[in-house]
Amino acid sequence: MYRKTNNRKSLMAILVGVGSAILAQASVAVTYISADRLIDVETGKVIESPLVTVDGNRIVSVEADVPAPEGALALAGMTLVPGLMDMHVHLTGSSDQHGYRRLAVTSERAAITGVKSARASLKAGFTTMRNLGASGYADIALRDAINDGDVPGPRLFVSGPAIGITGGHCDNNLLTHEYEARGQGVADGPWAVRAKVRENFKYGADLIKMCATGGVMSRNTEPGVQQLAEEEMRAAVVEAHRRGAIVAAHAHGTEGIKAAIRAGVDSIEHASFLDREAIRLAKKNDTVLSMDIYVTEYILSEGEKAGIMPESLEKERKVGGRQRESFRAAVDAGVKMVFGSDASIYPHGQNARQFSRMVEFGMTPLQALQAATINSARLLGQDTRLGSIRAGKLADIVAVPGNLLEDISVMERVSFVMKDGQVFRNDNRDF
Ligand code: ARG
Repeated sequence: MYRKTNNRKSLMAILVGVGSAILAQASVAVTYISADRLIDVETGKVIESPLVTVDGNRIVSVEADVPAPEGALALAGMTLVPGLMDMHVHLTGSSDQHGYRRLAVTSERAAITGVKSARASLKAGFTTMRNLGASGYADIALRDAINDGDVPGPRLFVSGPAIGITGGHCDNNLLTHEYEARGQGVADGPWAVRAKVRENFKYGADLIKMCATGGVMSRNTEPGVQQLAEEEMRAAVVEAHRRGAIVAAHAHGTEGIKAAIRAGVDSIEHASFLDREAIRLAKKNDTVLSMDIYVTEYILSEGEKAGIMPESLEKERKVGGRQRESFRAAVDAGVKMVFGSDASIYPHGQNARQFSRMVEFGMTPLQALQAATINSARLLGQDTRLGSIRAGKLADIVAVPGNLLEDISVMERVSFVMKDGQVFRNDNRDF
């Protein structure tokens, strides 16, 4: 599905056959993009005065020190980076609907919220996202609507309902037993977990999300306490990996993190209470960490207004600081890291605020950018198509002002977004 670029020229040839008309379309759609510099996230090198040539939805060449041809998108003063990738969002959730307010939101309404969030995320430079948990398969509807070109948004990889134990972080514990409320992904026992995994794939999930420990935002759960048993998690991993799909485990507490890693999950979400052994295990098993270290600031400053329960605020006070220490230790130890924000707790489109915190807590600006591009593409198994600006890959290209290697906060000021060869934002518009 090649969408229009700004200077697409189409040539329609109409071939009339015997008794039937065949419509064939041959199209030439070359776009040139020039800027001050480009970050090659695979080598870590900076390319000065780059010229990127895009044909349809593919990058065909990246050249250095080439004058921009006439008609090029000339992004003076800008740095080109690959389309950004956030590996932990909930597009169908909204930052002003926390705690008991959530109970008034249907899956159908949440899907429409997803349309708005997807657009805001794309405008902020996020061209690929992993959506980790939505009820009513609203995430699948959203992914498909974006892929069909009905609404603008990032390329989505989605989980469907998150899987977890009765009364766990992935259940719905807000109401008394009279209401018989239950999260859609609740499963107890390895075979029940397998059945849930199968059900999610049945309805179109790309990957699996499960809850290895309690959490901050759920009622009556403890972030430090393990929930799914190791055998249950292993069952989910076997079912998912058999289909070539990855598994993400929500895990704050140390024991739950270790059990999830031993069970073979592909990524640990949050990873708040890491110890030496957990870090060693993650390295040994090539487990990727996706640590949402910005969100603590939003929860503690805006949370109460946004409806976050007092219980959750209390838990956040215990988790946030430890998570940042764990982040630093994991970076120092060289564990594989991706960018995961948990946007929906804080407003969609503000995801990039986390970059400066990743640098504050131990990464170089290049490492933070790699986490949000090539490392994420590798986690998704999409690195032959996504994650860097290279000939042959899909044309997902973003521009930020100035030099992010000197000031990472420019990631919050994305001014040009191309996804799949189509321009969705250009504040430097002079073409
Ligand atoms: N969804 C996560 C939970 O409820 C959010 C944790 C946010 N806090 C943090 N410090 N990362 O557990």
